[in-house]
Amino acid sequence: MTALTLSTAGAATLRADAIVVGVAKGPKGPVAAPGAEAVDQAFDGKLGAVLETLGASGGESEVTKLPSQGGLKAPVVIAVGLGPVPDEEETYGAETLRRAAGAAARALSGVKKAAFALPVEAVEDIEAIAEGALLGAYAFTAYQGGDKNVKKGEGPKRPLGEVALLGAKPRDKAHKAAAERSVALAEEVNRARDLVNTPPNDLTPEAFAALVAAAGEEHGLTVEVLDEKALAEGGYGGILGVGQGSANPPRLVRIGYTHPDAEQTLALVGKGITYDSGGISLKPAGHNETMKCDMSGAAAVFATVVTGARLGLEVNLTGWLALAENMPSGSAVRPGDVLRMYSGKTVEVLNTDAEGRLVLADALTRASEESPDAIVDVATLTGAMMLALGNRTFGIMANDDTFRTWLHETAEEAGEASWPMPLPADLRKGMDSPTADIANMGERMGGGLVAGLFLKEFVGEGITWAHLDIAGPAFHEGAPYGYTPKGGTGSSVRTLVRLAERTAAGELG
Ligand code: BES
Ligand code: MN
Ligand code: ZN
Repeated sequence: MTALTLSTAGAATLRADAIVVGVAKGPKGPVAAPGAEAVDQAFDGKLGAVLETLGASGGESEVTKLPSQGGLKAPVVIAVGLGPVPDEEETYGAETLRRAAGAAARALSGVKKAAFALPVEAVEDIEAIAEGALLGAYAFTAYQGGDKNVKKGEGPKRPLGEVALLGAKPRDKAHKAAAERSVALAEEVNRARDLVNTPPNDLTPEAFAALVAAAGEEHGLTVEVLDEKALAEGGYGGILGVGQGSANPPRLVRIGYTHPDAEQTLALVGKGITYDSGGISLKPAGHNETMKCDMSGAAAVFATVVTGARLGLEVNLTGWLALAENMPSGSAVRPGDVLRMYSGKTVEVLNTDAEGRLVLADALTRASEESPDAIVDVATLTGAMMLALGNRTFGIMANDDTFRTWLHETAEEAGEASWPMPLPADLRKGMDSPTADIANMGERMGGGLVAGLFLKEFVGEGITWAHLDIAGPAFHEGAPYGYTPKGGTGSSVRTLVRLAERTAAGELG
């Protein structure tokens, strides 16, 4: 993992392999941003003009590399675009800085040490730059570079080794705390990304549970794992039903963090389908390798609880990971089967590809038994949510409008795009079943909301609950942008951590 250091050194004198500066889009061309003064001086005050000659505009996240000049110690300058110069009295937004730092860090893969001299006005800016740089410096190389016939050092490029943040004081308490928070958060987002990117032949429910147990040991968390036998004894018909077609049996994992002074408890429930083939309602061929991402919710919940522990947040966090592999086989659940869920409710399975709601339902009922102050579930639940909101925005549904609005603001604070979605009661009748209490599918229209309505019925009476459908943003198939890599993104971890922080501060909506 990329190291982070704070430094009050001058941009010109710090020893580094590259120096990152901001460039803004001025009315008459690119202009050097605050933090870039020393570098601008080394270019005789003409950094903006030089960049313009090279075709740069200062547009958001645009990256221009140029050789150093004058007295700069670093041999390379990386100018990263920050978009329009902010109005007077305004500063660059946190997400702008995060993305710029991320884009710069990506451009620096293979480099040992880079100094980041981006505009720092407040502690939040330090946090944003550190977060962006550490998230942008991510690479998933666990499965590359082992070929005995290839010489050492000729494998894939390693991510940037060290980020030195200029303008941040290593002895300032607030600056130090900001850096520590950024490191913990970015490392855990990257942990979630690693889990999502790990191929499903290696990340089985059992292997996932073992990783949680190991992390629990490391961070002093309680971890309980229900294996297939315990699930059968407990009557977890939803998780068992989804997992019964696979050679890799399902698990329900509880990971708990408690703080002695905590006044509130949050339960976080994650969909952990380690591979979603669709089951007997098999998905059509083509592009199904991305369905290893179907455990992104569980990865996010896991990463959040560990972050909470690392930061020592004054809140109790209970993570529930509903882990199963959805496969077709002679033992698989069929369309027409009826499952008796952990709650006692029966579900007619009309489509085995609507499996996420089945595993989540059991976990939601189980989480409710402990009467937490709120439950938030996270899931790559429906293609319909992607049709509604696209690939970068997750949907928020809830049984409480105030909580939904508050979570939306929380996501915004964390720098994640989300949008509140309704749970229209009229969609419930589409899930009426002639045989069971409810069917696992309803009307096609509003499919994301139908799934939300299904989940709602498994939440304990009187408990505040929200559901995040991250099917769009969990896995990024296009070219990397800002601090977002290809593949697993760690979607919703930053939102959930912010939620935990706000709850610790007594702000739970
Ligand atoms: N895991 C999928 C949803 C999904 C699709 C996530 C694409 C990420 C990318 C989910 O289990 C699923 O298959 N949902 C079905 C539900 C339908 C059968 C009611 C869907 O959305 O098509
Ligand atoms: Mn599915
Ligand atoms: Zn799924």
